[in-house]
Amino acid sequence: MKISVIGCGYLGAVHAAGMAELGHEVVGIDLDQAKVNRLNSSEAPFFEPGFDDLLVKTAERLTFSTDMADVAEATVHFLTVGTPQSPSGAVDMTYVNRAVEALLPFLSGESVVVGKSTVPVGTAQRLKEMIETTGAKLMWNPEFLREGFAVQDTLTPDRLVYGIQSGDESLVEVLDEVYRPIIERKTPRLVMDYATAELVKVAANSFLATKISFINAMAEISDAVGADVTMLADAIGHDPRIGRKFLNAGIGFGGGCLPKDIRGFVQRADELGVGEAVEFLSDVDAINLRRRARVIDVLSEELGDLSGKTVALWGLAFKPDSDDIRDSPALDIAESIAKAGATVQAYDPEAMGPAQKRLASNDISGISLHESPEETLSGADALVVATEWKTFREWDPSDAPGRLVVDGRNCLDRERWKSAGWRYRGMGRT
Ligand code: UGA
Repeated sequence: MKISVIGCGYLGAVHAAGMAELGHEVVGIDLDQAKVNRLNSSEAPFFEPGFDDLLVKTAERLTFSTDMADVAEATVHFLTVGTPQSPSGAVDMTYVNRAVEALLPFLSGESVVVGKSTVPVGTAQRLKEMIETTGAKLMWNPEFLREGFAVQDTLTPDRLVYGIQSGDESLVEVLDEVYRPIIERKTPRLVMDYATAELVKVAANSFLATKISFINAMAEISDAVGADVTMLADAIGHDPRIGRKFLNAGIGFGGGCLPKDIRGFVQRADELGVGEAVEFLSDVDAINLRRRARVIDVLSEELGDLSGKTVALWGLAFKPDSDDIRDSPALDIAESIAKAGATVQAYDPEAMGPAQKRLASNDISGISLHESPEETLSGADALVVATEWKTFREWDPSDAPGRLVVDGRNCLDRERWKSAGWRYRGMGRT
């Protein structure tokens, strides 16, 4: 099948290569010429495990272009453009609207547009009215991939969700054909209306965010009473109704999805007159943001006034196995430490390039980037571990003992660090 994928960010670029891996001929469209050039040379424009290999493997069936006219031969068009947060907290739909307008001249009665971007509920209905003027049909097919596992999640998803308009049941077969190897593995596939499909996505991310903020709220209580939130999570996580996944307390969630999705959901629910139903998500957001401030509090408790101090920071990406620094708690904490007057010496295995750009554009002083974890420790009064990369978890603390470590992800072997002579502070565990 000939397929186009419009928008080649973390979602679209991996989706395009994934569809080529399933055997389709795919063209990916993006406005960014430099990104398109890299993708056409089978080079990933961002760090994502396995993605470079997938680009090489699928190169024969996969091209990228900045010219929307190159979608003309495709029958299925995936919409994967970004929906960032606007200053009001609402979802910025500019890219989706522009992409659909640019696509319209290339649609006909044979075309099927498949929305994957995360959008406010009601969007599909609105876009359908634009698209149906060409005779084309619209489906909504939210994506649940995680950065760091994007290739795996694209090719072996937990479930497929198809949102269709009543009367368009024949479209199910079209998308089944696109995803045939996935369908043949008996992956659960749920067919529903547009609004439910849109809601499934924000509900899933809201639930995950709530789970993380719940355990972080327990971390706040644990700190107050000297309890251990990791043991608490292990104990409640044994109950299969609760489950241990996404119960890791620390400096909280960041990235391009969870924070903006809960804020966008709150705004949309307000517009719909049902804001009260998701008011709790504002608390989820507030608990999450307090985690970042907590690191500064712990540093101040231990070191006193931070001005003139030097703090090593391990991790800049919002999570391990990613170079994404969008709304990264790590970078936010680096900036707060620097604002408190300390010097920050930071290192991340993959996110140094994006972090360098961000620091330059924000004109932030007091943060320097270093070549290795060891280099950051030179002259440091304390170490903050902000992203749980494997290399940090496995690092030998006996290499540089005698100072404070703040384990922002509760990811270190506490006893090992303590017995190597470090003063250890976790998040909700001491
Ligand atoms: C999230 C969802 O997990 C995906 O299912 C969804 O498809 C995606 O958003 C999206 O909407 O596109 P992602 O943003 O890649 O995926 O990252 P997560 O693995 O969800 O982690 C989000 C944040 O939560 C990270 O900063 C992570 O460090 C933090 N986290 C995660 C915790 O603080 N504790 C946990 O127990 C788990």
